[in-house]
Amino acid sequence: MKALVKTKKDVGLEYQDIPVPRPGRKDVLVKVKASAICGSDIKIYEWVPWCENVVKSLPIIPGHECAGEVVEVGEEVKEIKVGDKVAAETHVPCGVCWQCRHNRPHTCEKMQLFGHTINGCFAEYSLIPEVSTRKIPDSISFDEGCLLEPMGIPFRAVEEGEVKGEAVVVIGCGPIGQFAISFSKIMGAEKIIGIDVNEKRLNIARKMGATHLINPETDSVVRKVKDLTKDYGGGAGVVIEASGNTAALKDAFGYIRIGGKIFMIGHLQNPLTIDTSPNIVLKEVQIKGLFGRKIWSTWDKTEKLLTSGKMNLSPVITHRFPLSGFEKAFEVALSGEGCKVLLIPD
Ligand SMILES: NC(=O)c1ccc[n+]([C@@H]2O[C@H](COP(=O)([O-])OP(=O)(O)OC[C@H]3O[C@@H](n4cnc5c(N)ncnc54)[C@H](O)[C@@H]3O)[C@@H](O)[C@H]2O)c1
Ligand SMILES: [Zn+2]
Ligand SMILES: [Zn+2]
Repeated sequence: MKALVKTKKDVGLEYQDIPVPRPGRKDVLVKVKASAICGSDIKIYEWVPWCENVVKSLPIIPGHECAGEVVEVGEEVKEIKVGDKVAAETHVPCGVCWQCRHNRPHTCEKMQLFGHTINGCFAEYSLIPEVSTRKIPDSISFDEGCLLEPMGIPFRAVEEGEVKGEAVVVIGCGPIGQFAISFSKIMGAEKIIGIDVNEKRLNIARKMGATHLINPETDSVVRKVKDLTKDYGGGAGVVIEASGNTAALKDAFGYIRIGGKIFMIGHLQNPLTIDTSPNIVLKEVQIKGLFGRKIWSTWDKTEKLLTSGKMNLSPVITHRFPLSGFEKAFEVALSGEGCKVLLIPD
């Protein structure tokens, strides 16, 4: 089969011809129909220092956002059948650690990461452990199915934010932010303010449901958000950080409402320094980090939303490339000129 393989701690990937893997006892072999490039795949492509701590050994097939069809199952696989349409959960839980035993397998202490510590989906066929294989309904297309995984985290932020009737700020209009905007609209937020420095992505944000757009390069963010949220207690009730930009998160403390909630999804490039007493304690601001999707309750809910027809993903899927055209695909993904870039096995 054809596969993208990371062989060296260097920029790039190799398009190789390798044997189709055989499923282990608890694995599912999937014919990949669509996969999507995530920010972490870009990091692996470029081999940034982050990879040294996450990608334990090479060679590895990256890619973790995918959908496909099951073609073979291991002898101990119970629920998943040949012919099932499936997607993959990236956090592969161990099943025995404290987190796993206390209903938090998504934060497993010994988790394997599909496409980071075990081979992923940038290939014609991919092995997925059964514990991380999600059966999806026929009504969800393969293009949509490969986006269920990245949709899960912003879904959790919007759900826990209880956004109905609220003023919501989404910092960063990459794929994660775009999904947060769409969910906020569907769940009844009144004002949805999208912030990004990239005008193309701000245009997509409007299509996904943002009611107001702010570009920090041309606008004063704090003043504008405070102005827009005058009637909501003088600030945003919910802030979803999906940019990874430290200064942008720091701004949020200038416009969050007293008693507001901040959800941190982005990985900040630099430490955040903040005077906690006036900004957090006296304002009773709640700050929560989110890592991954609850297995499987988040998937149940995002899948239901997607099949309800309320969500249109087409503005976010800006590019589709054959797997063999991966170099161009990564070039586009790196440039930020599009949003979600898909790879389709040839
Ligand atoms: N916590 C998790 O489980 C999880 C899962 C997936 C992704 N992430 C992280 O979430 C973040 C978003 O993911 P993505 O795939 O959408 O990334 P992305 O890089 O495509 O999007 C980030 C966006 O932020 C914008 N941005 C940059 N500077 C900004 C500023 N000062 N103000 C506002 N916007 C600014 C960029 O232009 C870009 O559009 C990343 O940091 C990613 O690593 C976390
Ligand atoms: Zn991802
Ligand atoms: Zn565990």
